[in-house]
Amino acid sequence: MRPIITSTVAATWALGGWIQLSKLNAVGVARRDADAAESARANRRWWDADADDYQAAHGAFLGDADFVWCPERVRESDVHLLGEVAGRRILEVGCGAAMCSRWLAAAGARPVAFDVSSGMLGHAQALAGSTGIDVPLVQADAQFLPFASASFDIAFTAFGAVPFVADSARLMREVARVLRPGGRWVFAVTHPMRWMFLDDPGPDGLTANTSYFDRTPYVEFDTSGEPTYVEHHRTLGDRIRELVAAGFRLVDLIEPDWPADLIDEWGQWSPFRGAILPGTAIYVCELDQRRSRVVAAESERARIG
Ligand SMILES: C[S@@+](CC[C@H](N)C(=O)[O-])C[C@H]1O[C@@H](n2cnc3c(N)ncnc32)[C@H](O)[C@@H]1O
Repeated sequence: MRPIITSTVAATWALGGWIQLSKLNAVGVARRDADAAESARANRRWWDADADDYQAAHGAFLGDADFVWCPERVRESDVHLLGEVAGRRILEVGCGAAMCSRWLAAAGARPVAFDVSSGMLGHAQALAGSTGIDVPLVQADAQFLPFASASFDIAFTAFGAVPFVADSARLMREVARVLRPGGRWVFAVTHPMRWMFLDDPGPDGLTANTSYFDRTPYVEFDTSGEPTYVEHHRTLGDRIRELVAAGFRLVDLIEPDWPADLIDEWGQWSPFRGAILPGTAIYVCELDQRRSRVVAAESERARIG
C-alpha cells in the first residue's frame, strides 16, 4: 500500500489515514475488488504517471548501477541471493530504471530487464546512456512473458510487478516457465504483516487496523470509480502455496533487520517502524528439477490455449 502523507491539499481521509491522491485525478481509496484487467490498466497508467517522481525520490538511494534489494538497504554484493551471476542469463522482472541489471551486467552477467511501464523504461534507457552500461530492455506484463521456455538461469525482482497483478499465481507459473530446471527466482515484496497497518512511518503505523486475512485489494479510484492504482495482498501461506504450485522450492525467506545507521525514510519504511515491524520479505526459491517440466508444460498449454 502507498505511503500516508499528511497536510497536503490533494489528500483525502480514507482507510483511517490521510493519503495523497495527486496522480490521475484520484479522489478516493477503498478496499474493494479489482480484476486482472482493471489492475493491469490502472498500474500501467499509474507507473507511467509516477515514473519521474519515483526516480526523483529514490534514484539516489538506488544508484545508477547498483543492486539494493529493499529500503533496509540490503545489497546483493553482500548477500549473494542470486548465487553465481557471471555468465548467467538473468531476467529482471518489473525493473523500473534497471539499476540492478546494470550492476549485474558490470559483474559479468547477461541480464534482460523488463517492465510494463514505458515511463520507467525511459529512465532505464537514459541511465544506459549516462552509465555506458547497455542492458536489453523489454516492455511486457509479468503475467504474459514474451520469452522462450527455459531460457533463463535466474529471475528476480526488487518490489516489481508481484503485488500489482491480480493473478500472482499466474506470474509465478510464467517465471517458472522461462527458467531452466533448477533455476533461481528471488523476489522482494512488502512484508505481508504490513497490510494490517496504515502506511504511516510514525507511531500511527503501529496499530493494527485491518485483518491480516483480508485479501481484498487496495484500490485508489477516480471520479468515475475507475481504479487508478491497485495493490493485491497475499498472506505468507498464500505466497508459499502459489510458489509450490508453480514448481518452486522455498530455499529461504529473508526479513531484513533495520540497520542501526540507516536514517533514510522510504514512504511507510522508517527507522522508527523498522525497529519493531518487518518491512520487507525476500523469497528465495529454486525451480524443482522434477516438478518444473510438468508445470512448464501446463503453463505453455494455458498460454497457447
Ligand atoms: C516499486 S517499483 C520497483 C522498480 C524497481 N525494481 C526498483 O527497485 O526501483 C514497481 C515496478 O513494477 C512495475 N510493474 C508493475 N506492474 C507490472 C507488471 N504487471 N509487469 C511488469 N512490471 C510491472 C512498475 O512499472 C514499476 O516499475
